[in-house]
Amino acid sequence: MNEPIIKAITLYSEDLFALLLLADPSQNNINEYLYKSLIYGAYINNVLIGVYVLFPVDEQTMEIKNIAVSEDFHKRGIGTLLLHHAKKETVLKGYLQLIIGTANSSISQLSLYQKNGFEIYEIKRDFFIENYNEPIFENGIQAKHMIMLMQKVS
Ligand code: COA
Repeated sequence: MNEPIIKAITLYSEDLFALLLLADPSQNNINEYLYKSLIYGAYINNVLIGVYVLFPVDEQTMEIKNIAVSEDFHKRGIGTLLLHHAKKETVLKGYLQLIIGTANSSISQLSLYQKNGFEIYEIKRDFFIENYNEPIFENGIQAKHMIMLMQKVS
C-alpha cells in the first residue's frame, strides 16, 4: 500500500459525505459542524480513503467531530495517522487541547483513542438517545452515552 497523503479539503464531494456518514449516521448533525470546521483528507493514488473534521470549540480547544476511514482500508494505521495529523494541526493553529467523543458502544474507537493519548474526562449521559431518532447498536451494545476524551497537545 502506498503511504497516504493528508491534505486539507475545501470541496464538499459525495466521496466526502460517504465517509463522514460512516462515523455519524445523521446528515443533520454533520451539517451542524461541517461548514464551521477544517476538513482533512487522506488520499491514496488521489482517491479519498480517510477524513477527519476539526471544529474550534473555544480559544483553547479543538474537537475532532468526525473521523472515518474507508472500510477496505481499516486496520492499516490510517486512523492513527489521521489522529497524529489532527494533534499537529491543533498545535499549529495555536490551540492547547484536542477533544473527541465516541459512544459507550464504540469499543475499538475507545481503544484507539486511548492508545493515542486521549483520556476520558466526561460522560454525556443519554446523548445518543436524546439526539438520534433511531436506536443505535454496536458490538451488541446500545449506544446511549457519549464518552468524551481529551489530550493536551502543547
Ligand atoms: N495490522 C493490523 N492491525 C493494525 C495495523 C496493521 N498494520 N495498523 C493498525 N492496526 C490496528 C490498530 O492497532 C488498532 O487496533 P485496536 O482496534 O485494537 O485499537 C486498529 O487496527 C485500528 O487502528 P488504525 O488502523 O490506525 O485505524 P483505522 O484506519 O482502522 O481507522 C476508524 C479507525 C475508527 C477511523 C475506522 O474504524 C472507521 O472509520 N470506523 C467507522 C467510523 C467511526 O466509527 N468513526 C469514529 C466515530 S467516534
